[in-house]
Amino acid sequence: MSVHMSNRLSIENAPMIKTKIPGPRSMEFIEVQDRFETSSRSYTGFFNFAVDYGKGSTVVDMDGNVFIDWFGGVSVLNLGHGHPEVVGALKGQIEKITHITEVPTEARIKYLKTLNSVLPGKMKDNSKVLMTVTGADACEAAVSLARYVSKKPTILAFTGSYHGIAGGIVGATSNYHYRDYAGFSTQNYVYAPYPYPYRFQGKSRPEDISKEVIDRIEEMIGDPYSGVPPIGGIIVEPVQGEGGYIVPPDDFLPMLRETCDKHSIPLIIDEVQSGIGRTGKLWESEYHNVTPDIMCISKSIGGGIPISSVVYKKEYDQLPKAFHLGTYRGNPLGLAAGAAILEVVRDEKFLERVRSKGKYLLNRFEEIQADSRIIGDVRGRGYMIATEIVKDRQSKIPGTELAGKIRGAMFKRGVLMHTCGHYGNAMRFMAPLTIEDDLIDKGVSIFEEAIKETEVGS
Ligand SMILES: Cc1ncc(COP(=O)(O)O)c(C=O)c1O
Repeated sequence: MSVHMSNRLSIENAPMIKTKIPGPRSMEFIEVQDRFETSSRSYTGFFNFAVDYGKGSTVVDMDGNVFIDWFGGVSVLNLGHGHPEVVGALKGQIEKITHITEVPTEARIKYLKTLNSVLPGKMKDNSKVLMTVTGADACEAAVSLARYVSKKPTILAFTGSYHGIAGGIVGATSNYHYRDYAGFSTQNYVYAPYPYPYRFQGKSRPEDISKEVIDRIEEMIGDPYSGVPPIGGIIVEPVQGEGGYIVPPDDFLPMLRETCDKHSIPLIIDEVQSGIGRTGKLWESEYHNVTPDIMCISKSIGGGIPISSVVYKKEYDQLPKAFHLGTYRGNPLGLAAGAAILEVVRDEKFLERVRSKGKYLLNRFEEIQADSRIIGDVRGRGYMIATEIVKDRQSKIPGTELAGKIRGAMFKRGVLMHTCGHYGNAMRFMAPLTIEDDLIDKGVSIFEEAIKETEVGS
């Protein structure tokens, strides 16, 4: 049994709320932050506290209140806070070297070898790695690579997608606000509907949704009058993250792979959120036996140190020097953490627990849904689970405000749970994969209370 299961990583008896939230010490920190930091912040609007430290799947605020962490720093902490393997790797590395650009170090070599050994499908021993810094950076480099090899600038993305907020990739992020704020355009990006079973607008029966989406893409590609220029790459999240933890039908990814093969279009699979065991396999694409041409990895690979990587098939390795630059690419601390994290997560027993506990959680959320008017949909895989909040189940009108209230009611009771989705109305479970059973069960009870409290007032 791996390290995470034999020793308890989290604080016992969480949650423990002893003061009004935010407490007096937190208030002092918040006051200074408000004075000096931009008011353009999002998370501090609803997680209104200051944090002292984290331990496993718990965080402690400046007043000693203990919270259960179902947030994981937006799905970054797949091994939780302060996992011994990660801390050990970081401590070892910090004594050696914390920054050097591109030159091989022990950490870099270990990361490259370990990553290669766990790559999905035919990628193993048949790929190259391009080091990047953030998720957006990886996706941007991936898209540039697809354009470079296909010699076609137009990239197809999906409704509900989120690939980051940077100039070259924000066009593939579907929420137009993000582009408008920064004055970017969607130039060279086109969109197809993502197969979102709960809100699919097409005519199909559930079992035909993938076909309808793929037919639409085939029409874009094949009909010279489709209005869409030749497509140089398709970027897809195998389970959509920010878009609402949307699990497409199982035949979708294989069908998309087939379309890409048929038309020689590079398929970019963005595993930034779904990867590193989040859905119960190391990579979501493994469920579908689909090999990406290009894969984006970030978030939990660095255990909190910002690193990311693009993995691409060897045939594409004809790039000019300095194709993608950045001083901080492949930071040694992140690489050391990354190799340690992959070693823990690749363990089949570890992944099996995520799969079985994930099913248990889905069931628990479905049981709560059965008694609730405002949970429209429950969906997910592994520890990527959402309950979509609606005004009522018949109308399916998004319950955006209700979701905000549920998040607040949970925070007050000591559980960090965040939202996502097209309308910000999906409550998402993205706790560390190492979370102990009692913190799952206590969190679920608190979720149920929060639903009931919110429902009464709605
Ligand atoms: C699937 C996916 N791709 C890319 C990104 C962008 O990553 P970052 O915020 O590190 O730029 C995110 C962030 O949430 C994501 O979920």
